[in-house]
Amino acid sequence: MSPGQERNLERALQCRVIDRNSLILDIFAQRARSHEGKLQVELAQLSHLSTRLVRGWTHLERQKGGVGLRGPGETQLETDRRLLGIRVKALKDRLAQVQKQRNTQRKSRNRAGVASVSIVGYTNAGKSTLFNALTKANIYAADQLFATLDTTSRKLFLHHQASVVVSDTVGFIRDLPHTLVAAFRATLEETVQANLLLHVVDCANDTRDAQIDEVNKVLAEIEADGIPQLIVWNKSDLRDLPPEIERDEDGVIVSVRVSALKGEGLELLREAIAERVQPFANNHKEPYEHVAE
Ligand code: GTP
Repeated sequence: MSPGQERNLERALQCRVIDRNSLILDIFAQRARSHEGKLQVELAQLSHLSTRLVRGWTHLERQKGGVGLRGPGETQLETDRRLLGIRVKALKDRLAQVQKQRNTQRKSRNRAGVASVSIVGYTNAGKSTLFNALTKANIYAADQLFATLDTTSRKLFLHHQASVVVSDTVGFIRDLPHTLVAAFRATLEETVQANLLLHVVDCANDTRDAQIDEVNKVLAEIEADGIPQLIVWNKSDLRDLPPEIERDEDGVIVSVRVSALKGEGLELLREAIAERVQPFANNHKEPYEHVAE
């Protein structure tokens, strides 16, 4: 949508109108927790803005009827672009520094043997409901069984596994604009570093297979497609199916059917997580060697 179309729509509809990319960036901006995530999102917002400045500028140029003429608007736009350029450069420098620090942090976390599990899934699959159900059930089981790290990452203590960090994530969508991949990747920083992905799927949705494909496509774009997955068939209550664990021919748990809303199957899921992250606890350096065999 061009800035002109945006303005016309706003006038006609009498409300704020933003395009799809801006909306996605708004959501990322709300959800980005890490310093790097925030920097990446700001960078994407500025590049998005800069394309609009260029459009405004060429438009003015046409109005003036000649190349090389300098109108007052043009000077302002030039200033805007210069300031934008300075900010973009500063952000890129800062990002390079932060990325160096992050690698050091990840190494120390791996040494500490804390497995990290990220919840991913198509938007509306029930990720947040599952995240809350998993961690709340823990509070009821015993006090202080989990520690809140921030609103979207919590430490979860499982039966045989000392500790696991579970992170909730922003919903995945179809056709993630290519220019937003880096911002999305940074927003999902925990996901990219996770030892196991809980891929939540709305099993009552007719397009569930297409949604799984879309999520896997985005995971590949953010280079998280090599991380082992455990499929969580959620919303089993809508299909009247009982909670169940499914294993492949090698005995590895591949999926668990649950209802996050009704709290059914959560114990099975906890067992499954413990079993799937076990190899990581045994061998920090090669997390999934055993499962791969
Ligand atoms: P995004 O943040 O948009 O990606 O959504 P999400 O994947 O975090 O989904 P959320 O947890 O917000 O749940 C979406 C809707 O599904 C809500 O209305 C939930 O109440 C509902 N829901 C989640 N789990 C279940 C379930 O097990 N059964 C049923 N019937 N509804 C569920």
